[in-house]
Amino acid sequence: MQKHYTGLIERYRDRLPVSKSTRIISLCEGNTPLIQLQNIPRMIGKDVDIYVKFEGLNPTGSFKDRGMTMAVTKAVEAGSQAIICASTGNTSASAAAYAARAGIKAFVLIPEGKIALGKLAQTLMYNATIIQINGNFDQGMELVKEVANHAPVSIVNSINPFRLEGQKTAAFEIVDELGFAPDYHCLPVGNAGNISAYWKGYKEYATERVCSNRPVMCGYQAAGAAPFVAGHKIDNPETVATAIRIGNPQSWDFAIAAQQESGGWFDKFSDEKILAAQKMLSQFEGIFCEPASATSLAGALHDIASGKIPEGSKIVCTLTGNGIKDPEIAMQQCADAKPVTIEADLDAVKRAILDCL
Ligand code: F0G
Repeated sequence: MQKHYTGLIERYRDRLPVSKSTRIISLCEGNTPLIQLQNIPRMIGKDVDIYVKFEGLNPTGSFKDRGMTMAVTKAVEAGSQAIICASTGNTSASAAAYAARAGIKAFVLIPEGKIALGKLAQTLMYNATIIQINGNFDQGMELVKEVANHAPVSIVNSINPFRLEGQKTAAFEIVDELGFAPDYHCLPVGNAGNISAYWKGYKEYATERVCSNRPVMCGYQAAGAAPFVAGHKIDNPETVATAIRIGNPQSWDFAIAAQQESGGWFDKFSDEKILAAQKMLSQFEGIFCEPASATSLAGALHDIASGKIPEGSKIVCTLTGNGIKDPEIAMQQCADAKPVTIEADLDAVKRAILDCL
């Protein structure tokens, strides 16, 4: 009989820093689907296998849950009564949920007016204390680092090494499912924890010969928030993809190592390109991710078209968060497709259908 799935720490317990007596704080995160795209490769006329790792199907709707189960488990093990993070929205939702599960307190610092509505709603429902700042994520991050020196709170941003430990399991899942590592792994880069964690996971598996290859890591940023492309931090990052509106990534050195060791690259894409990729995935594959997440596909499609990613390649794009988190952008994206309102009678319904055929 198949064992009930109880989360990624149990599944990969041998590869994670837990002991038999550790109380595991889990919401059954991980085990997300790896979906092969069927229509988009045909539309672009290229012979490539593109898979998306849909991390939007984690318990709070983003990949952050992978790191958070680990970080909160370790915070509780160390006796913490409270956790804190700065966030563009997803980390705060995740931290709040795992704190609720653990029975401890969560404080989150967010940039006022720059958080997608769904993320704010989640964080409120999970009952975190939300501190909005008149500033951006990077300023929030600096404040969190300082305050943690003066208050009894554990930081659960990805500068907490347990976060990367949890997040590396996404690479394990991909290899376990495919039987090999992809040729290219594409993902959006903001604070740069995720690209660092994936690379750690792939390297671990390759070193232990679970797989024989490692992917080329492709990190894609929004044009207005692309410090890795610029080669230095950016003071006033701007993008519609608020999740990656970051100018001073905390995992800078790890991310550069991932790029260099894998023979990969960073690139940047306009908000228009990112939104087009988000809509394309929804309309042609039935997969609804949030804008930041679509940056991975925007980048992959660009590099496939240019031949930088050659035909015959197996590509994985991480879709970091669920589209439902950002209903306002979705409604803007579909402004031309407003629902029609008609009388509640059969003829009117028939007419409405015939009008569309
Ligand atoms: N995609 C989404 C949906 C995100 O929420 C984030 C980061 C990223 C991509 C980038 O990942 O930071 O590991 O490079 N969100 C953080 C937050 C910063 O606060 O929720 P990264």
